[in-house]
Amino acid sequence: MATLLVKNGRVVTADFDAVCDVLIEGETIAAIGRNLPANGAEVIDATGKIVVPGGIDPHVHLDMPFMGTFSSDTHETGTRAALHGGTTTVIDFVLQKQGHSLREALTEWQGRATGTAVGDYSFHMAVTDFNPDTREEIKDMVAEGITSFKTFMAYKGALMIDDAQMVGLMQEVRKHGGLVTAHATNGDMIDTLIAQHRAQGKLTPRYHYLSQPEVTEAEASGRFTDIADYTGVNAYIVHLTCEGALNQVRDATRRNQRVFVETCIQYLLLDADLYGEEFEGAKWVMSPPLREKKDQETLWAGINQGLVQVVGTDHCPFRWEQKLMGKDDFSKIPNGHPAIEHRMELLFSEGVQKGRISLQKFVEVTSTNAAKIFGMFPRKGTISIGADADLVIIDPAAKHTISAATHHMNVDYSAYEGWELTGKIDTVLLRGQVAVDAGETKVPKGYGQFIRRGKTAF
Ligand code: URP
Ligand code: ZN
Ligand code: ZN
Repeated sequence: MATLLVKNGRVVTADFDAVCDVLIEGETIAAIGRNLPANGAEVIDATGKIVVPGGIDPHVHLDMPFMGTFSSDTHETGTRAALHGGTTTVIDFVLQKQGHSLREALTEWQGRATGTAVGDYSFHMAVTDFNPDTREEIKDMVAEGITSFKTFMAYKGALMIDDAQMVGLMQEVRKHGGLVTAHATNGDMIDTLIAQHRAQGKLTPRYHYLSQPEVTEAEASGRFTDIADYTGVNAYIVHLTCEGALNQVRDATRRNQRVFVETCIQYLLLDADLYGEEFEGAKWVMSPPLREKKDQETLWAGINQGLVQVVGTDHCPFRWEQKLMGKDDFSKIPNGHPAIEHRMELLFSEGVQKGRISLQKFVEVTSTNAAKIFGMFPRKGTISIGADADLVIIDPAAKHTISAATHHMNVDYSAYEGWELTGKIDTVLLRGQVAVDAGETKVPKGYGQFIRRGKTAF
């Protein structure tokens, strides 16, 4: 029952690199080898192309209620755009409402994603109110394949939990073998700086950046890592941006602690010079904000040193009319930027093609490490017999230009407008189906499946 044969591509995984064929039967990989017979299977000629595992973006916010509006990509539009950029699986955040249960939130998010997602997806559970009732729900979430629990150390009054709740959550999650992740910035300090800037009439997007200096992230990253060490839970810092925060993790490695780090594509490629005095800077109003060039160097080095294991996006798009909610006050600009579609091509072009990272490191940080950390490996994150046939075929020489006029995300600007990239994704397979080919979507709304996850295996 062979269905597809991908022939003569350079197949690259985290620990394999050879020109060979990949035979797919149904949804999974049946054989990998040279000169495999087609036996009636449809053949995709990948000569001269690179074949990598489907990308995994473990940090996306789809259709998320936030700052008085909703992020503009739904599970349908967001996962479709992700597929166009080679990301076959995303992990979205379910947000518990303070005063309500985890179950209520999960039911709400399932209602949005089931039958609408085009690509595969899973959920993290964001715990915004840890109390005796929430504690009881942790084991139920783990049993349903939601094994990672997100915490916010900022956004007080909406999402933030305090250190007392953090300790309790970590102790409970550890009991059930899960992972605790954090938006690690000092919310009280940031709120104070925001209030000071507003009182002084400093209201342009640049003051969003100046309200979140490096110390706010370094302090919280150290605190989160220390509490995680004390409780013994596996820990993961999301969207880490700067030298001070990464140095906290570097220190923690001296005490044999398990703490994983994600950065996002924007922090590697964009910097705070984009925050001028004009409102256009709102395109890059996100938290944490863009940093300095020295921080980009630290992050690239951190990837190569193995301190940063994942490059995600924190995709949280808002259309321009939504960004305009903060035209007179930076603190009202919905935080987030669109990137789900371009993470892999940007990293390939700016990272691999420019010699900053190897091709195998590219596979690790876009796919394999996230699969291992978030309990999906080896079903996802690699090309091996029995794995889901999630494959991305890249033409390494093809050049193209990013533009809002051609992207698939539901947002009317691009944070990377006009960027010229070398290396273009030709074809994407998801569970054995051609999902995208030559810029066209080939799978329908609802094709995406919820992926139940297990424990960290790293
Ligand atoms: O600016 C951001 N990052 N928006 C999404 C919410 C979060 O903090 O991840
Ligand atoms: Zn965050
Ligand atoms: Zn986020």
